[in-house]
Amino acid sequence: MKLIILFLMWPMIGFAQQQDDKPELPAFHHVVGVKPSQARDIDEKLQLGEEGELVCSTCHGLDDIDKTPLDEVDTEAEDFLQGGPYKPLTDFCYRCHNKEKNTRENIHVMFDEKGEIKKQACEYCHEKTPDREKDLKFDELKLRISMTEICYGCHLKDPHFNAVEHQVKPETDEMMDHLKKMREEKQILMPLNDKNEVMCISCHTPHQRDVINVEKPAGKQVLVEDLEEGITYKDHPWNAVYQADKAVRLDELNKQLKKQYQLNYQRIENEALLRLPAVNGELCLQCHTFDK
Ligand code: HEC
Ligand code: HEC
Ligand code: HEC
Ligand code: HEC
Ligand code: HEC
Ligand code: HEC
Repeated sequence: MKLIILFLMWPMIGFAQQQDDKPELPAFHHVVGVKPSQARDIDEKLQLGEEGELVCSTCHGLDDIDKTPLDEVDTEAEDFLQGGPYKPLTDFCYRCHNKEKNTRENIHVMFDEKGEIKKQACEYCHEKTPDREKDLKFDELKLRISMTEICYGCHLKDPHFNAVEHQVKPETDEMMDHLKKMREEKQILMPLNDKNEVMCISCHTPHQRDVINVEKPAGKQVLVEDLEEGITYKDHPWNAVYQADKAVRLDELNKQLKKQYQLNYQRIENEALLRLPAVNGELCLQCHTFDK
């Protein structure tokens, strides 16, 4: 899985004031009515309008979508998007936008085809490629940015649910003591920063497995077959129930924020770059204790 730069821009395509004769479009919808610039390679099967512009039917297969009230549009229909459904949605985007130009390399894939270390990947974060044979102290790692902030250049500070809430110091000494005890027990690295706050790398490791010897505390992490594929989720039968339960509140929130958040109850199928598995709660129990 690659990060799609297009996606970062997606929410920025706001929509101008509605005029009465214009069809109602959701906020942050794709641009319509524009002619593709030369450079863009529109899939021939997606037909443009009479003047070569993007029209509703270029992308949507539903009849009269432009005359249908927003809340009656069947977004679950197969041809809601031409040739759909698409999973992930970006497969649809790539029918017109160039995939290569819009994805970036997953720097966490640190071995090349021959199984050699890709030094340039190391040097995004380390000034020099560290010697993997040596036992290095933290200040010998020559990190370009502090450990707290090293991920922010490429990831958001808020990459997922509950990430921000975690970047604090444990409220209780109990949690600190528990973490210390668990580190000893599992012989695992799970660092806090110099203010004793949780960081991204408290839960995640930046390295592909085997870059650091798995016998070392820093080398212990979950095993993932395909890091390019990354973290994957599978649908869960509860999803329909879960979404129905949240629908009204989510709708209100979206109206307030002028966003289109969706909620999905999914199960993690494949974990990556975590120091301990989260699916069975092991990671969480490193810091949290629950009453039985
Ligand atoms: C130079 C850019 C860069 C830096 C720095 C970086 N990442 Fe990433 N990371 C990526 C890219 C590219 C991907 C591929 C998936 C994507 O695009 O989201 C990725 C994916 C991930 C994933 C998901 C695994 C997957 O393959 O889907 C996790 C977890 C992750 N990074 C954690 C971190 C953490 C923790 C740090 C800080 C120690 C960090 N990253 C620093 C670029 C970066
Ligand atoms: C370039 C492609 C493209 C064009 C042209 C286009 N759309 Fe869309 N439209 C999309 C995509 C992509 C989505 C979002 C699908 C998703 O998030 O699952 C969408 C979503 C929608 C939705 C569903 C919003 C919701 O409830 O989630 C409606 C309604 C819609 N478009 C109406 C229109 C109308 C009316 C036109 C013509 C005026 C139009 N679209 C033209 C690509 C397009
Ligand atoms: C039918 C072809 C088509 C599809 C499918 C399509 N786009 Fe576009 N997109 C265009 C055209 C044409 C433009 C107008 C700008 C241009 O041609 O340079 C555009 C413009 C954009 C822009 C404005 C920035 C820019 O490069 O000009 C973004 C962002 C964008 N599309 C994202 C998406 C995303 C995300 C998807 C998938 C959900 C998607 N597009 C699907 C044809 C398409
Ligand atoms: C996204 C940033 C990032 C990248 C890329 C990265 N490292 Fe690191 N590295 C760190 C951080 C942060 C630490 C300290 C925390 C840890 O060990 O997990 C570290 C620690 C280490 C350590 C010490 C482990 C120990 O036993 O304590 C070694 C050795 C190392 N890195 C080697 C490498 C090599 C080799 C590469 C390239 C293949 C690389 N790193 C790429 C961020 C990175
Ligand atoms: C409390 C632990 C924890 C902290 C702190 C944390 N994460 Fe995560 N992160 C997770 C878990 C659990 C997942 C779910 C995926 C999995 O199980 O492999 C995840 C997933 C991710 C993903 C992949 C998302 C996806 O759906 O593909 C990225 C990227 C990521 N984290 C980056 C970060 C960054 C950057 C930070 C710091 C700002 C951070 N995380 C802080 C636990 C954490
Ligand atoms: C490195 C330690 C650490 C790990 C690992 C960890 N947490 Fe936490 N968690 C914290 C800290 C610190 C807080 C802040 C509140 C506190 O100190 O009790 C917190 C708070 C929370 C909260 C309350 C958030 C809020 O809204 O206030 C939830 C829920 C939570 N964690 C769930 C999890 C889950 C689920 C996992 C495993 C995926 C996990 N935690 C892993 C340290 C951790």
